[in-house]
Amino acid sequence: MAEQLTTQAGLNKAQQYAELIPQLKALTESESNTVANLANISAALRQTFGFFWVGFYLVDGDSLVLGPFQGDIACTRIAPGRGVCGTAWQTHQTQWVPDVDAFPGHIACSSLSRSEVVVPIIKDGTVRAVLDVDSEKLDDFEQADVDGLEQIALLVAQLM
Ligand code: SME
Repeated sequence: MAEQLTTQAGLNKAQQYAELIPQLKALTESESNTVANLANISAALRQTFGFFWVGFYLVDGDSLVLGPFQGDIACTRIAPGRGVCGTAWQTHQTQWVPDVDAFPGHIACSSLSRSEVVVPIIKDGTVRAVLDVDSEKLDDFEQADVDGLEQIALLVAQLM
């Protein structure tokens, strides 16, 4: 089991994701419990990138329900089409939001959150969960984050 992450300092974001993703695979491949795997993936993302908030909302009936995360307490239920997470669920598309105040219907779980990326986790054509990453800084995400988080969403889909 990979107990320590070994991403090196001085790498750019794309390189950091390229180093992290095989470690996430190693960390999760021998564990069948989804909650345990999502918890460690959240922690690994927080440890590597220092995100303000990172975690999962899981589809449960007609809501997204808060799952494993790292960060401050958050809203527990989100309806389809509501906020950034509900939009990612409804559209099956990654939502890259440089300024949350400019996103109609953004749900402010924390007033400190300024920018956000939400990636749907799709298995057999159905959204099962979303991966949500928030920053306290405006426009804090780049294409490498979207690409890396989408790759992690593919890995998570295989774990669900
Ligand atoms: N801002 C999200 C809600 C989840 S929190 O950011 C953790 C949204 O608008 O869906």
